[in-house]
Amino acid sequence: MNPQEDKCLESLDRKLTMELGRVTEAAAVAAATLRGHGDEKAADQAAVDAMRRELNYLPIDGVVRIGEGERDEAPMLYIGEEVGTGDGPALDVALDPLEGTTICAKNTPNSLAVIALARTGNLLYAPDVYMDKIAIGPGYAKNVIDLEAPASENIKALAKEKGVKPSQISACVLDRPRHAPIIEEIRSTGASIRLIGDGDVAGVIHTTNSEETGIDIYIGTGGAPEGVLAAAALRCTGGQMFGRLVIKNDEQRERTIGMGISDPTQIFSMEEMAKGDVLFAATGVTDGNFLKGVKFNQDNIVTDTVVMRSSTGTIRYIKGVHSDISKFHLKD
Ligand code: FBP
Repeated sequence: MNPQEDKCLESLDRKLTMELGRVTEAAAVAAATLRGHGDEKAADQAAVDAMRRELNYLPIDGVVRIGEGERDEAPMLYIGEEVGTGDGPALDVALDPLEGTTICAKNTPNSLAVIALARTGNLLYAPDVYMDKIAIGPGYAKNVIDLEAPASENIKALAKEKGVKPSQISACVLDRPRHAPIIEEIRSTGASIRLIGDGDVAGVIHTTNSEETGIDIYIGTGGAPEGVLAAAALRCTGGQMFGRLVIKNDEQRERTIGMGISDPTQIFSMEEMAKGDVLFAATGVTDGNFLKGVKFNQDNIVTDTVVMRSSTGTIRYIKGVHSDISKFHLKD
């Protein structure tokens, strides 16, 4: 790329970062109209429709790499769908219009609308399988955490690095029966655990601001697509994360290899899951620890969004007060 092209892309990235906020705002508002209604599918569909509509205004030649599923199972925002106006740079898109569908349906904390962009080839094309994950926030020496080490060792190593006792460390873990051994390991150190019902993108991001969220480390197995989105966010905020796909059968192994991952057992660092300049945006759907949920007022709608960019490390919190509600195309 010549310096002129480089400069153009640089200036486009700056604009795109802000524009991405509009995309997640639209998805979050649509989902929030169905918050607490007990209907995961309807809330997800509303978020998908809104995100797709807004995404297609962006001046990018985008391809969904992390999306709603394979083409035959997801009519919109499926893996491989081309998005944007087609006029701009060739970009990979990772998205989850409603991360935490059950959270939204129950109106409990931390469901988000999320999206990340990177140059083509810079996101891990992860299949929809599970991923073992471990993540911490910024400010620690490199490789304090080790995905292959027992959870207790990771807690002790982090406590040592932080200069506190293991009992002063708090870990976030998805509340699933599969995590019983990890939970026991963590508790054996005296550390406390925040068990979350869903939403491990937020769980990972919470480690980046432990003073606010009270969470120092995320450990456990969740969705691989959510792992890539979380890695994109951590690339912008700083922190460390590692992930390894959980391949259960030959069909998953073949699908993984078919998506370009030659060694499905590889441990990926966050830099390997989201390379180069990464743009990330999230808007709160339900109230959460780092973003408030959408608020519907008499005369306006208020949204809480974060947009970030890895190359500058700038993190912007945007409170949107939307007086023109018609732009959200909400149903009565
Ligand atoms: P959805 O938004 O698809 O409902 O995913 C929520 C979530 O909790 C993710 O944050 C997490 O990675 C995954 O589900 C965990 O999967 P499972 O519910 O199968 O344990």
